[in-house]
Amino acid sequence: MIVGMPHAPEIIVIDDPAELADVAARAIVDAALEAVKARGRFMISLAGGGTPRTTYERLAQSPLREKMPWAQTWIFFGDERGVAPEHKDSNFAMANTALISKVPVPREQVFRIRGEDGDPEAAATTYARTITEVFGVRRGELPKFDMILLGLGVDGHTASLFPGSPALKEVFRQVAAVHAAAAMIPQRFTLTFPVINAAGTVMFLAAGAEKAKVVKAVLGEPSSTLPAAMARPTEGRLVWLLDRGAASLLNVAKSR
Ligand code: 6PG
Repeated sequence: MIVGMPHAPEIIVIDDPAELADVAARAIVDAALEAVKARGRFMISLAGGGTPRTTYERLAQSPLREKMPWAQTWIFFGDERGVAPEHKDSNFAMANTALISKVPVPREQVFRIRGEDGDPEAAATTYARTITEVFGVRRGELPKFDMILLGLGVDGHTASLFPGSPALKEVFRQVAAVHAAAAMIPQRFTLTFPVINAAGTVMFLAAGAEKAKVVKAVLGEPSSTLPAAMARPTEGRLVWLLDRGAASLLNVAKSR
């Protein structure tokens, strides 16, 4: 079980990406069992990109597949690209292939962002409303995800919150439609920091030496203004799972 201190990031350095996936998948199961025991359900937001794929695959395989309380698990997405759900660059498509299509999570408990809809603002509003309804919170009240998984881009973005984006300053909208000019697919949708920072646990997964510089910029600089550094749960835990390559410029001991 991950035991962290609110506000202080818990940095866990793991030998290699394969082991990182194992540790991340087990942490998700631990969080799920804890949430179900405490509140009867597990509300998780999945990260996109490439890094989490192997973690999702581990969750779909024995023994973790059998340990996860799928019937009490609700799956959301931290961000999505402006593409159809079967598009090769869709975050939903990646998670569906690696995990959702392989496990008995009730399909009515999986909520993707409709990135393909013609009206991005309406798609973002609809997703925010869906979150509000499923969490059973009042309009404007923050949903408290049990776990939000996040990745880290080499420019310091996380989810689809990119450097310089107006969405970084969003205090009301819980889901934003953003135009990320630097991204391969500029039309993006993302949870905003009020929601991210209301989570019980925010867990970053970052692997590869190409992430070392940005990891140091985010974790090694207390005053970092990079988007990923803005993920600071108000009361929850902040966990960074790094492989040796991504942590190579940080002066932290290897954890495993
Ligand atoms: C996305 C992700 C994004 C991702 C980072 C890291 O939609 O692209 O949400 O924030 O996590 O870009 O991506 P990799 O894991 O592929 O390096």
